[in-house]
Amino acid sequence: MARIEIQKKQDMTYENPKLILAHSALREGSIMWKSPSNLAIVKYWGKHGQQLPKNPSLSLTLDTSFTQTKLHYAPRKVAGQDISLSLLFEGQPHEGFAQRVKQFFRKILPIFPFLKQLDLTVETQNSFPHSSGIASSASAMSALALCCCSMEDEFFGTLDEDEVFDRKASYVARLGSGSACRSIYPYWALWGETGEVPGSSNLYAVPMAEAVHPVFHTLHDDILIIRSGTKQVSSSAGHSLMQNHPFAEVRYQQARKNLYELINALRTGDLEAFGKVAEKEALMLHSLMMSAPSPYILMAPHTITAIERVWAFRKETGHPVFFSLDAGPNLHVLYPETIIHEVRPFVDTQLAPLCEESIYLQDWAGEGPEQL
Ligand code: PMV
Repeated sequence: MARIEIQKKQDMTYENPKLILAHSALREGSIMWKSPSNLAIVKYWGKHGQQLPKNPSLSLTLDTSFTQTKLHYAPRKVAGQDISLSLLFEGQPHEGFAQRVKQFFRKILPIFPFLKQLDLTVETQNSFPHSSGIASSASAMSALALCCCSMEDEFFGTLDEDEVFDRKASYVARLGSGSACRSIYPYWALWGETGEVPGSSNLYAVPMAEAVHPVFHTLHDDILIIRSGTKQVSSSAGHSLMQNHPFAEVRYQQARKNLYELINALRTGDLEAFGKVAEKEALMLHSLMMSAPSPYILMAPHTITAIERVWAFRKETGHPVFFSLDAGPNLHVLYPETIIHEVRPFVDTQLAPLCEESIYLQDWAGEGPEQL
């Protein structure tokens, strides 16, 4: 019986040819969602199959770094089998992003077949400065997935239960960008099957806020914009390089060990243990890039200086201030709300000068997406 359940879960695709609109049901309307970015503490790095992770990852849902997306739909003027889409990014046409969204919609057409009955217009904008080097795919793809689920619910009334809605949105977001599936949930989310968390899955993320000590519900993340602009090696290229990586298997084992430590630290409110995992994971991610079959470096000289200053500040003051890194040079400075008055002057005087135009973003644990 249990085997059948597991099998069913793995086969779940959400494909549903019945979600086609009767001619009389076709109408015009729009849906708008705001969805945040997230910062993985245990990283997803390496994938297989249809965007399935090689190891489970656990992330902090951010608050002030988000994408706001409006999806306008109208009965299609000229019938066709492909998606009919126009897109404005921050008020301007953006061919590259339009192509990516179109690809995503084509991929999810078997899940939402009604999309091809409509002329779609996407208007999207980010809260963070244009090309600040902040990965926007998690917030952008989760916002789009939420819009599609809301549209399904408006037309068919099939997703009125929050839990069912969120799970589907997370599944769909994953197909756009793996890390996007974690942005659906407030505060903390886990993606990937692990014996540590019942109900966890490779197909969608699950909420973790209830398994997390309150000190981590108000965690701060000051994001140092050390270098803006597009990175030389994309995350998808980075994931592919894990396929023939000499340390791949060791990495996946280490990620599981770090996840175990992180879950315990988050549950008990152990900031030191949390920080140790956060920094180990950040440096391991970058060491995997540097030891890949085609090696590359995404850290900048100022990234290293900032790390040294965080370490020195922690040593001098004893304050629990830690760092993490995404796949880029920008340092995320993590600390609890209780020490904000001690940490901010340090960030302003010692870390901000290492940033491009002295810019850093003030972010923190957030409540998750919001329909507008
Ligand atoms: O979701 P992707 O394909 O952009 O990959 C994200 C990879 C990292 O941001 C480096 C780690 C993570 O788990 O978010």
